[in-house]
Amino acid sequence: MTASSATPSTATEIVAEDLEDIGRRLSVEFGRMAGKRLLIVGGAGFLGYYLVQAPLAWNRTGRGAPIEVTVYDNWIRGMPDWIKALADDPHLTLHTHDITNPMPQDAGDFDYVIHAASIASPIFYRKYPIETMDANVNGLRYLLEYALAQKKAGKPLSGFLFYSTSEIYGDPTPENIPTPETYRGNVSCTGPRACYDESKRYGETLCVNFAEQHDLQITIARPFNNYGPGLKITDRRVLPDFARDVFAGRDIVMLSNGAPTRTFCYIADAIVGYFKVLVIGRKGESYNVGTDAAEVSMAQLADEVVRIASERWGYAGRVVRQVSSDKNYLVDNPNRRCPVITKARTELGYEPRVGFEDGLERALIWYSGNLEAEDA
Ligand SMILES: NC(=O)c1ccc[n+]([C@@H]2O[C@H](COP(=O)([O-])OP(=O)(O)OC[C@H]3O[C@@H](n4cnc5c(N)ncnc54)[C@H](O)[C@@H]3O)[C@@H](O)[C@H]2O)c1
Repeated sequence: MTASSATPSTATEIVAEDLEDIGRRLSVEFGRMAGKRLLIVGGAGFLGYYLVQAPLAWNRTGRGAPIEVTVYDNWIRGMPDWIKALADDPHLTLHTHDITNPMPQDAGDFDYVIHAASIASPIFYRKYPIETMDANVNGLRYLLEYALAQKKAGKPLSGFLFYSTSEIYGDPTPENIPTPETYRGNVSCTGPRACYDESKRYGETLCVNFAEQHDLQITIARPFNNYGPGLKITDRRVLPDFARDVFAGRDIVMLSNGAPTRTFCYIADAIVGYFKVLVIGRKGESYNVGTDAAEVSMAQLADEVVRIASERWGYAGRVVRQVSSDKNYLVDNPNRRCPVITKARTELGYEPRVGFEDGLERALIWYSGNLEAEDA
């Protein structure tokens, strides 16, 4: 397919614009991180795409001493080309490390640590349920022990961010939508998603208690449905599945009745939120990071993808419904997911800015230049 117009830009330009936008919005936070060492565990995944690239792009602006970024990953979901392409960056170090093992002896002194090492795509975490629990519980524990050891050695971390999830709320009851951080959840402890939801819940409990008992600067982010550049086309979450259909020139296959709704938060907005939680979040606190814009149903999402793709690339497909061959595909799938973000907004100055249609168009342009990815 050929794009019908040159605007707004190519995949490369989208990424460059996003990184510039993130750096500008995080001038205070990146300023504080200047000259410091940042460890991102699980940095080769979707969120890693901008978590890793944003500080490296900020370094290139010369606004402060470089942030030294280290990525640990076990590459369970593959080693993506984008991270291979960054291997020569003087401020990036890549290490093969499985977080369910103790920290490497020669890890050195990190000032900031981000735990993003957990498979987030339901298809894949259900394929690796025990690995998922281990990463969120045992892997987290090793990192917390590292933070404690650093404090005892007189080198306390300035920030430690654990990635939880909106899934810790399970399928919220109607009166708890939109959902604030104080909602306790409606979650199955044995269903097909429990390996993820429950290990995140326990991970939060670990974080809160380490923060309190040992006075460690630990914070927690609860992401709500991020999408956009970095979410590889083979990920099996809903938008990449739709994009894959579009760019293969076939009908979009919807595997639900189209009714479940989500609030989709463009990745550049979310990344701004995550670094804010890391750098200026309150110790031991959890923050919803997402958007409180209107909820979008899966049917609306599919229709909007069709509209944009037909306008930009002359896509002529339509939306068809099918039942997934995976019997657990929709089991315990929340009907609605929508955050209250007042806490992040008032405490951290977090404000999502990218509207859904704009973000979706940016995402599809990114997919148009990123049609190949490892199927892992
Ligand atoms: N993307 C979202 O919208 C979203 C929503 C809620 C929560 N989260 C959370 O944010 C974090 C990052 O999500 P993502 O979308 O980037 O996930 P992802 O699945 O795209 O990437 C996870 C990364 O962690 C690595 N990893 C997994 N297990 C590991 C281990 N034991 N040791 C080292 N590396 C390991 C994988 O190889 C991969 O590079 C996860 O904790 C996830 O649960 C994301």
